[in-house]
Amino acid sequence: KVLILDFGSQYTQLIARRVRELNIYSEIKPYNNLPEDLSAFQAVILSGSPYSVRAADAPHPNLADIKGKKPLLAICYGAQYLAHFNGGNVAPSATREYGRANLSMVRDNEPFLANVHLNSQVWMSHSDTIKQLPSNGVLLASTTDVENAAFRLEGEDTYGIQFHPEVYHSTDGSQLLENFLVNIAGLKQDWTPDAFIETTVAELKQQIGKEKVILGLSGGVDSSVAAMLLHKAIGEQLHCIFVNNGLLRKNEFSQVLEQYQGMGLNVKGVDASARFLEALKGESDPETKRKIIGRVFIEVFDDESHQVENATWLAQGTIYPDRIESVSASGGPSAVIKSHHNVGGLPDYMKLKIVEPLQLLFKDEVRRVGKNLDMAPEILGRHPFPGPGLGIRILGDITAEKVRILQEVDAIFIEGLKKNGLYDKVWQAGAMLLPVNSVGVMGDERTYEKCVALRAVESTDGMTADWVNLPYEFLQKVSNDIINKVKGVNRVVYDISSKPPATIEWE
Ligand code: XMP
Repeated sequence: KVLILDFGSQYTQLIARRVRELNIYSEIKPYNNLPEDLSAFQAVILSGSPYSVRAADAPHPNLADIKGKKPLLAICYGAQYLAHFNGGNVAPSATREYGRANLSMVRDNEPFLANVHLNSQVWMSHSDTIKQLPSNGVLLASTTDVENAAFRLEGEDTYGIQFHPEVYHSTDGSQLLENFLVNIAGLKQDWTPDAFIETTVAELKQQIGKEKVILGLSGGVDSSVAAMLLHKAIGEQLHCIFVNNGLLRKNEFSQVLEQYQGMGLNVKGVDASARFLEALKGESDPETKRKIIGRVFIEVFDDESHQVENATWLAQGTIYPDRIESVSASGGPSAVIKSHHNVGGLPDYMKLKIVEPLQLLFKDEVRRVGKNLDMAPEILGRHPFPGPGLGIRILGDITAEKVRILQEVDAIFIEGLKKNGLYDKVWQAGAMLLPVNSVGVMGDERTYEKCVALRAVESTDGMTADWVNLPYEFLQKVSNDIINKVKGVNRVVYDISSKPPATIEWE
């Protein structure tokens, strides 16, 4: 496997994903927390960083156990770090270099550059540049503005590149990574979804033995794939709980429950709609609503998990991005792992041992594993949906009637996206019920009814997002359908705000 040392670059996760797309397993570790046992890693990649190597507080880890001992590829800051500490010279560039550039020189007969073309586009993002290579440096490639765009150190398997092979804009980027990992480091490309399924299922069997596992299904991709892996490993010992909080999409509870049962899962559907609605009654503050929904969910889940006798494990659909120890933006040693449990006063089910079968996977890998487990495309391609559901899409207080209205509106919108081949082009979509009445006219009658906002966004991880330019004809048709079919709504607007500064959900 490959070790990726993170110096805090925004692209570090992309490096890991590119490597894995080559079917080679990789792990990210913060530069200031090197694994004690390096023997498991056959190659090391150094990431970029927002720092200048010349800054006193920049990451300067000791690479004595790595450099010259294992194949090493240093990217951007990593390459500058190599140069700086091996007798080269790094200085500020005359101009900051961001964006595309083309290779204007590529040295012949270098295994590292096999099939990398002259004029190949590469992506730059740096403000320092390597003015002079270390004395054992061999220049491998240049761009018009950057002479030392790629180099190696003579006598060792050490490579440095100023540009970013991990971003898609670097057209031969994957080829370069493959050259390094396969040709130079000799890694095998055997980390496939099937191999992952086989080893994970074997490990889960071993880990869990004859004990019982509880898992909360949400209808989303992660919990569903986690459930299928566990099901494959331990069958009926897996007890799934699927809670209807009354804030799901129209018919979602029954449809998804049926789908789960069709997949052979041992799943109990718990309709707690009334309990949630009762607890939310009269509350219109967004944060309080979220807290109420969270609390009631825990209560319901706790009650239900007690029904499963002698359960000892709680399974969660946590994925790799939730677990990567990140180098904080300030570069400090504050490696943080996201924690979603508050300590003290844990509900009983949280006292169970935790098993997280997807903890090594990125989202796209979860989908590929699901596909190889023969799961339905409707489950694997489902848009993200927030835990508090429609509760944070109904602005103001929540009533059964408002939920019904929003479910109808949302269903027309989502069905429309599907029918017009737009669903898979959108990362997430939904409707918001606004606490606004406006005047309309239907037939000869004056109306004074609700307004809904439609939202459809493009995103990769939900951290940033942009609104989708849906065709006007589509919006026109959906708007017409909503106003004609959903009683209580006489106005539809489309949300054209990006995140930031807006968020995806309205609450
Ligand atoms: P925002 O509104 O913060 O949403 O831009 C970003 C993404 O997170 C989802 N979201 C949630 N998901 N529980 C969840 O499971 C929540 O409380 C929650 N709040 C927002 C939102 O749907 C979007 O995909």
